[in-house]
Amino acid sequence: MTKSNFNNLVNLLSLDSEKISRLLDISFEVKKEYKTNGPNDLLKGFTSVLFFFFFCLRTRVTFEVAMAHVGGSTINLEPGSVSLGKRETVNDAVKNLSRWVNVIIARTFKHSLVEELARNASVPVINALTDLFHPCQALAFAQTLQERCGDIRGSHVVFVGDGNNVANSLAILSGMMGLDFTLSCPSGYEIPQFVREQIQPIFQQNGCRFAIEHDPQKAVASANIIYTDVWVSMGEEAEKEKKVQHFLNFQVNDTLLSAAPAGCLVSHCLPAHRGEEITDSVLDSDISICFDEAENRLHVQKAILLALLSPKYAL
Ligand code: CP
Ligand code: NVA
Repeated sequence: MTKSNFNNLVNLLSLDSEKISRLLDISFEVKKEYKTNGPNDLLKGFTSVLFFFFFCLRTRVTFEVAMAHVGGSTINLEPGSVSLGKRETVNDAVKNLSRWVNVIIARTFKHSLVEELARNASVPVINALTDLFHPCQALAFAQTLQERCGDIRGSHVVFVGDGNNVANSLAILSGMMGLDFTLSCPSGYEIPQFVREQIQPIFQQNGCRFAIEHDPQKAVASANIIYTDVWVSMGEEAEKEKKVQHFLNFQVNDTLLSAAPAGCLVSHCLPAHRGEEITDSVLDSDISICFDEAENRLHVQKAILLALLSPKYAL
């Protein structure tokens, strides 16, 4: 439907710096437009299907609201009712959906499943979080940081927490936007090697630095923004006791912030496990931009939908 080769958003690695900038420009534009003029008809008659295999608040609501703001509609499919891969093959289900709807938005646990959906669908597929990546979150973070700081090139993002889905996407985004990125995690919780291998050249090309620092106090010493996420992600509940023990020194609290430069901001993808990875005093403070970032999920996902579905916004 679009002229661009931006056909799916499964992983930010399929984008580049220019496409990310363009997506963010669209996001700023649609945010301003909505705040000035309210809803429009840009995707009137378009339908999205939401397919969430896991708990969700922000992603589901923001995609539904985004579609409503541009005149489109949404179907929420309960995975249990579809029985994907059991009642019929994933391939057959996706080929059916592709005949009826314009975009498939899926939160699967295994990243390989969202890749399989994208391979088999003839309409765009958007990753709404997998065990490996959360591209929509990373894009909302970029918009929020730009709003707060203007030109963010050269800023230092320090992720204190698990080298998991959110960290992976933030690292890719940082490399593509020319931001330094440090992961501070306990040994054994680093970003997977295959992701590191793919992002290293991106950091080199864009003149920025990727690092891992196991001491959180050292890691935040030159941070412009500290980011964190839950220690125990969805699907990892059985590891809770072990992980909480391993991450005890990685809480984002006032003591850690005293090791960071003045003016350092903090964000979190949410939901937060208050009192574990972050304290109330930090999450609710003026330096916390997590709720602005949650708002920007709406605008940036609207931009993604437009870029995928409307030739006028093709990247
Ligand atoms: N941050 C985020 O994706 O939140 P939900 O799991 O509530 O969608
Ligand atoms: N790492 C978290 C992110 C939630 C948005 C999880 O996977 O549960």
